[in-house]
Amino acid sequence: MTDTIQSIDYNEASEELRRQIAALQHRVWPDVCTAPKETIPDAHGKEFHARSFFIYADGKLASYAGVVCKTIMHEGKAFKIAGLSSVATDPEYQGRGLGSCTVSGATQWIEQTDTDFGIFTCEPSLARFYEQAGSWQVAPDVILVGSHDEDALSSNNLPVVVLMSLLSEKAKGCESILRHTSIYLDLPVGKFL
Ligand SMILES: CC(C)(COP(=O)(O)OP(=O)(O)OC[C@H]1O[C@@H](n2cnc3c(N)ncnc32)[C@H](O)[C@@H]1OP(=O)(O)O)[C@@H](O)C(=O)NCCC(=O)NCCS
Repeated sequence: MTDTIQSIDYNEASEELRRQIAALQHRVWPDVCTAPKETIPDAHGKEFHARSFFIYADGKLASYAGVVCKTIMHEGKAFKIAGLSSVATDPEYQGRGLGSCTVSGATQWIEQTDTDFGIFTCEPSLARFYEQAGSWQVAPDVILVGSHDEDALSSNNLPVVVLMSLLSEKAKGCESILRHTSIYLDLPVGKFL
């Protein structure tokens, strides 16, 4: 049995919920995400004020989508950005529409905030999934870069596409500087969206 979608600020989530989110991440990405033990690995850094969207099925956390938010500088202007992060459905429950539901809920939430634009990356084969679930469009002319550090991760060197959605009037008015460009996220080396 599948429940309805739920949402909470990740920083306010109970220890039990954070444990369930970490356990789901471990089931989906066993090589990358460590299993929660005494310590619960953070799904999102506190500084991102992440919003969590999740669905239980059969009493188990079955699907999750996080939204991370930050302000970046681009061409001398400040923009509030948001990106989907840690999107995952338990392998046992994939293909039942749960991922579409969490991504759709997360996207609608972004659209209702004062976010200037949404931006994140995914593997090319998932672009259609994000397009269908949240109308996310591939921006082939935009390079997303973790930071100005020479070791920063970049969409240019990874097997990913950039998904982008200009939301605010400010962002729409700045389209000429937000397209055909590189956007730097100002993240620690090794971190990316
Ligand atoms: C991507 C993911 C979250 C989708 O969750 P889900 O609950 O299975 O999603 P839904 O059932 O709502 O929709 C599945 C759709 O995505 C497609 N899809 C799922 N994984 C895919 C993949 N790797 N490549 C291409 N399409 C994929 C399915 O074919 C399906 O499309 P359809 O509706 O046209 O048949 C899930 O497959 C997953 O956890 N994958 C591993 C982790 C991952 O890659 N996360 C994304 C990080 S950017």
